[in-house]
Amino acid sequence: MPTPPPDRHPSRQDQPRLQVAGLTRAFGGRPVVDDVSLSVAAGQVTCLLGPSGCGKSTTLRMIAGVEQPDTGTIRIDGTEVCRPGLSLPPEARSVGLMFQDFALFPHLSVAQNVAFGLSGDKAAKAARVGELLERVNLAGYGDKHPHQLSGGEQQRVALARALAPRPRVMLMDEPFSGLDNRLRDGIRDATLDLLKEEGTAVLLVTHEPDEAMRMADEIALMRGGRIVQRGAPYNIYNAPVDKAAAAFFSDINVIRGTSRGALTDTPFGAFLTPGHADGGEVEIVIRPQHLKIDFDRGGRGPNPTVADGTPARGLVQRARYLGRESLVEFRMDHDGSILTASVPGVFLPKTGTALWLMIRRDRCFVFPVSR
Ligand SMILES: Nc1ncnc2c1ncn2[C@@H]1O[C@H](COP(=O)(O)OP(=O)(O)O)[C@@H](O)[C@H]1O
Ligand SMILES: [Mg+2]
Repeated sequence: MPTPPPDRHPSRQDQPRLQVAGLTRAFGGRPVVDDVSLSVAAGQVTCLLGPSGCGKSTTLRMIAGVEQPDTGTIRIDGTEVCRPGLSLPPEARSVGLMFQDFALFPHLSVAQNVAFGLSGDKAAKAARVGELLERVNLAGYGDKHPHQLSGGEQQRVALARALAPRPRVMLMDEPFSGLDNRLRDGIRDATLDLLKEEGTAVLLVTHEPDEAMRMADEIALMRGGRIVQRGAPYNIYNAPVDKAAAAFFSDINVIRGTSRGALTDTPFGAFLTPGHADGGEVEIVIRPQHLKIDFDRGGRGPNPTVADGTPARGLVQRARYLGRESLVEFRMDHDGSILTASVPGVFLPKTGTALWLMIRRDRCFVFPVSR
């Protein structure tokens, strides 16, 4: 068993490593980061996830100290590194940075790159460099120069360089987006293992839900400068706060209805919609994998269970095989709307085939219609 690294920055159990409160920044009068609060514990990975332009990088840059907030505070291990009237420079914050263009110093060797931020005696530096190069599978690469390495190897050197001084907090901005798809999953996993071993607190910015689901202990979902939901990947995926949050992770189907007496009637039967005003319009949101397909049993229709509600009939519009799953689009008899179901494996019914759809009650989300 590898021995855990010495923790140069023991943090109190009850205190998050990184604590951000009320961070706000406007450019030209337009708020780009709006009252962002989050915290990350040592050894944890939080992914700041959101569409391009929502303010993720600006948030990260303020935490790094290369951009100044208008208001808000940033604490690292309980110590304020930024508040109105005070801002420690990046090098005084004990943060490691890894950005998309993880530019290595081209004139320095791999070992010199990794040693760049290290202080202390030569032997200790060399030991730390050797340890990290081995850890990122680049033992023996110390004397090479960046241009002699592949993109994936350069990325690993950048990771080793950022981690070498044992930063309290590691800030990563789309660190895998420059890598080709085939390499990415392996590098993500190896990176995650190393980050966990080092025990630093990680804030990782990404616009890819898959990456966040794969990497994060906690996801902070960001939109228009604000964090709209925080939680474990499971909770964010299975209990989205609104329709847009649901749609950020997969295609969705939406069925509209009107709530009366805590029930909403639809062609798929009644749905419980407690907490929605009488006469209030609601949207029932279903991911494609939670639409259940059934066959017409000799003209008698399907055999639904209570949990499935009422089946509604549709005609196959299009069926596509995507490898892990098949995606089938239906035009529904009752209103001509299109619903999409996904089925594991191969399922390619002919266009025009009549099938019945049911909706798993335990897997749909109900939201008030937002205008
Ligand atoms: N220095 C700046 N001056 C003016 N606008 C900026 C500046 N930095 C970022 N922005 C704007 O702020 C918004 C959020 O940017 P950014 O934080 O980079 O988003 P993300 O990383 O989520 O894609 C964008 O509309 C961007 O154009
Ligand atoms: Mg960005």
